[in-house]
Amino acid sequence: ATTLGASAAQSGRYFGTAVAAYKLSDSVYSTILDREFNMVTPENEMKWDATEPSQNSFNYNSADQIVNHAQSHNQRIRGHALAWHQQQPGWVSGLSGTALRNAMLNHVTQVATHYKGKIYSWDVVNEAFADGSSGARRDSNLQRTGNDWIEAAFRAARAADPGAKLCYNDYNTDGVNAKSTAVYNMVQDFKARGVPIDCVGFQSHINPQSPVTSDYQANLQRFADLGVDVQITELDIEGSGTAQANTYATVVNACLAVARCNGITVWGIRDSDSWRSSGTPLLFDNSGNKKAAYTSTLNALNAV
Ligand code: G3I
Repeated sequence: ATTLGASAAQSGRYFGTAVAAYKLSDSVYSTILDREFNMVTPENEMKWDATEPSQNSFNYNSADQIVNHAQSHNQRIRGHALAWHQQQPGWVSGLSGTALRNAMLNHVTQVATHYKGKIYSWDVVNEAFADGSSGARRDSNLQRTGNDWIEAAFRAARAADPGAKLCYNDYNTDGVNAKSTAVYNMVQDFKARGVPIDCVGFQSHINPQSPVTSDYQANLQRFADLGVDVQITELDIEGSGTAQANTYATVVNACLAVARCNGITVWGIRDSDSWRSSGTPLLFDNSGNKKAAYTSTLNALNAV
């Protein structure tokens, strides 16, 4: 097939991108979006600060723009993110303990209910584990409400939208390491105790400090073997030319080799759309031209 989405669909997978609502009116952007991608993740519009700017007062304008666009272009939606220690609205910083726990659960319930039936998968909890070798939870205001906050969030999301797949999403968990093993142990425990979790997202922000390791595929596989789907959720790869193209192919091939790796999302369309202030980590250049990394990705998807 000749587009990323159609090529991924040949093996039952999707190919997605992060989308910013304010860019939908840019015709270069939206032309590529609607031609190439069949899954979208709102880059910021569904986060807590965007959707609940004051307590129990919800604003879905920007997120609804993306959802409406996606629905009219046969794109599914990955909701991002219901509970996260970053991009919280200011009022949350005044809360702790039971009040914060209840505010978080209300947020999860309200947002998941608003989008009930429209979301393929939710990043229910994002980035809750510490970096480095501790294998510990990340210290955060949410973590300080009690270690069970993650499962409470998943149960609330399931109750609000039983049809959505519920994912845990994190970075620097792309290889076998202390952080990914801590996530693995949580998922194993959730499955054993019947906490509703369907999928794990591996962000895969690749750069010289966090390269693709040789156990990338094995790490995806060990999570899949727990009985969850796995997805590459925020892929971008620093670099250029053939080296970058080869690394994209390596990541795509790792997903394709894991039966339960059912989708790949890149974190933006053109290099100029990237959250990274410098660099050229995406598949299209600033003018919207296909890069070598695009071609290697497309060819990998078509090789299965
Ligand atoms: O909301 C303000 C807006 O009012 C103001 O006009 C504008 C001016 O620059 O700034 C806006 O906020 C920015 C927001 O993006 C929306 O554009 C923030 O300053 C900026 O920090 C924020 O960055 C986002 C970042 O998450 C925040 O943590 C990036 O766009 C987004 O790509 C990035 O995405 C995260 C994932 O959610 C989770 N995993 C890591 C990934 C990369 O950091």
